[in-house]
Amino acid sequence: MKENISINLRNVESFVSYEEIIALAQQSVRHLESLNKGTGPGSDFLGWMTLPDDILPQLDRIEETARRLRSISDLTVIVGIGGSYLGSKAVIEALTHSFCSLRNEKHHEILFAGQNISEDYLSEMLEILDARNYSVVVISKSGVTTEPAIAFRIVRNHLEKKLGREAASERIVAITDSRKGALRPLADANGYETFVIPDNIGGRYSVLTPAGLLPIALSGLDIRQLVEGAKSMELLTRNNRDASSNISLIYAAARNLILQSGRTTEIMVSFTPKLHYFAEWWKQLYGESEGKDGKGIFPAAVDFTTDLHSLGQYIQDGQRIMFETVLSVLIPSRTLTVPYQDDNADQLNYLAGQRLSEVDHNAEAGTILAHHDGNVPVIKLEIPELTEYYVGQLFYFFELACAVSGYILDVNPFDQPGVEAYKKNMFALLNKPGYEEAGRKLRERLEE
Ligand code: PA5
Repeated sequence: MKENISINLRNVESFVSYEEIIALAQQSVRHLESLNKGTGPGSDFLGWMTLPDDILPQLDRIEETARRLRSISDLTVIVGIGGSYLGSKAVIEALTHSFCSLRNEKHHEILFAGQNISEDYLSEMLEILDARNYSVVVISKSGVTTEPAIAFRIVRNHLEKKLGREAASERIVAITDSRKGALRPLADANGYETFVIPDNIGGRYSVLTPAGLLPIALSGLDIRQLVEGAKSMELLTRNNRDASSNISLIYAAARNLILQSGRTTEIMVSFTPKLHYFAEWWKQLYGESEGKDGKGIFPAAVDFTTDLHSLGQYIQDGQRIMFETVLSVLIPSRTLTVPYQDDNADQLNYLAGQRLSEVDHNAEAGTILAHHDGNVPVIKLEIPELTEYYVGQLFYFFELACAVSGYILDVNPFDQPGVEAYKKNMFALLNKPGYEEAGRKLRERLEE
C-alpha cells in the first residue's frame, strides 16, 4: 500500500497547542458537512469535490487528443491565465525535466501564453514559433478573459498564416464553458475540437478537468496517476469526520488559529525549485478564495535555499507577521553526490560522498528550527516523493482545506468579486465600447 502525504505540527505547538488545533478541526466537521450537502456559500461551485471519479469517463479522449497533437506537432502553446494555466504549469514544472534543451529530446514541449499582456513576451514566443511545428490549446472558462483572448488571437493568426485556416483548425483545441462566452462560438465556427469546463467548477479548482489534464497529458505525464492520487486523498478526507486523522481539517484549523495569533501572512516554502509553480497555484487558490470582506491570510511563497539569501533575513528577524508551510519532499528522483577533491581547496571535503539531497534536507531542518526559534510557526507537509500520484494528493488536500478554511473565516471561497475592479479600469482606459464615460473620468484622475 502507498504512503500518503502527512502533516507535521511539531514546530507549531509552541504557538498554538495540538489540542486547540484538533478542537477547531473537529468543530470544522460541520463545514465539511455543508460542503458535502451543498448548503454553504458558493454551493453552485462544488463540482471539484467529486472530480476524481467524475473525470474518469473523459480520460480516454483527453489522452487520445494529447496523442494526436503530439503526433502532428512537437510543441504546444497553452493559452490561459489564473486557474486556466497554473495547475498544469505546476504539474509540468514539478515532474518534467528542468532544462528545456533536454526536455525537447524526450518530451513534447509546452509553452504558456495569455498569462500576461507583455508585447516582448509574446513577440519572442512568435519568434520561436516561426521555426516550430506547433499546436495550440486555448483555455478560458468564461471565454471572455482579455489576456488569453488577445494572446489567442495573435497565436491563431500566426498559425493560420503559417498553415492556412483549415490545417490550423486541426491543431487548435478549445477548453471552455459549455454555452457561455466568446470562445465557444468561435470554436464551433472553426471546427476546433473542444472540451468543457463544467459550470459547477471555478477556474482555480479546475486542475482535474480537461483544463489541467490535457496540457499535462501533452507533456507526457500520467494523468491517471494524478487523478488516482487525488482520489486517494478524497477518500482520506472528504467524508472523514474524525478530525485527528483528517489532514485537510487539521491544516485549515492550524492556519486559522495561527492567523488569530496575529500572523497574517502564510509563506509556502519549498526546497526544490521544481515546486515553484505549485506554490503559484496554491497562492491563487488561497488568495482568491479567502482574500475578501477585509479578511484572509496573505499567501506568499519562497524557494529555499535560493531565497534564504534574500528574504531569509526578513523571515528570521523582521516583523513577526508570518508563518510558514514547508512542502518537504522526502525522496528525490535522482542521485548526485558531492565528489572528493584531493586539494580540498574549497574546504568541502567534509561533504564528500554525501548526496545533495542530504545536504538539502539538513538545510531544510536547520532552517525550520531557526525560523521556529525566530518566532515563526512552521507547518510541515511531508511528501513521500515527487510523482503524479502525490501531486494529485496535494491538489485535493489543498482544495478541500481551502474550502473549509474559507468557511472558518466566514467568506465564500468560490467567488472572486475583487478581480473585476482592475478589469473595469482597464476597459475604461482602453475605450472598450460601453466604458467611454468611465474612461474619461479615469483619464482626468491620471492627469491631475
Ligand atoms: O479562479 C478563477 O475563476 C479565476 O482566477 C480564473 O481562473 C481566471 O480569471 C481565468 O478565467 P477564465 O478561465 O474564465 O479565462
